[in-house]
Amino acid sequence: MKQPIIIALDGTSASGKSTNAKLVAKALNYVYVDTGAMYRTLAWYCLKQKADIHDPRAVARVCRTWKPSLVCADGQVRLLVEGYYPEREIRTAETSAAVPHVAAVPQVREWMKKKQRECVQFGNLVMEGRDIGTNVFPETEFKFYLDASLEERSKRRAAEGIQENLAARDQRDSQRAVAPLMIPLGAMVINNSRMSAAETSRLILEAVRGRLGAKQ
Ligand code: DC
Repeated sequence: MKQPIIIALDGTSASGKSTNAKLVAKALNYVYVDTGAMYRTLAWYCLKQKADIHDPRAVARVCRTWKPSLVCADGQVRLLVEGYYPEREIRTAETSAAVPHVAAVPQVREWMKKKQRECVQFGNLVMEGRDIGTNVFPETEFKFYLDASLEERSKRRAAEGIQENLAARDQRDSQRAVAPLMIPLGAMVINNSRMSAAETSRLILEAVRGRLGAKQ
């Protein structure tokens, strides 16, 4: 059987991962996977279960016992909790503050990696996150790392109506012990501080198509 193609898109917060992952997935007709949303869904569920998110053992316990389903609808993968996708709830300030703590727990990362690898059942993927090229699909040939200046990224968040300390979040994501954010070996690094999403996604698409063409 032909192996699904995995495009791994990693990078700092507000570097344009979601926008570009969606554009690339649409252009290639691949399935889009937002792994941050998966971590957010677990963080929301921990809060709902009143687990102490500062206690790694409590978080690991929730992760061990929850039974979400992995589904693909409208070209996008989601974790449903008892058939429900908490789309709005995972974007609240409360969930955003909780998610780095949840995402730092080794058992959570192991669980997520397994689920994220199971996504190949849905076909070719564009998967965005922080450790896709380094840890989840290190074997893929299609690795991209997006970044932009802190000033530009803060502006982008503010334009979405979100005031957030991005430097602190980057630091937490980059310094955690398990699967920290880093540039994957062999990744194409794109600093898009002065680029539009259309320009960024065009660069990614050119690189992917070039490599796919070279393989045929
Ligand atoms: O991309 P996002 O802001 O929705 O991600 C939410 C949090 O989850 C963020 O603090 C980093 C973490 N995350 C991670 O550790 N690994 C991933 N593959 C995706 C997200």
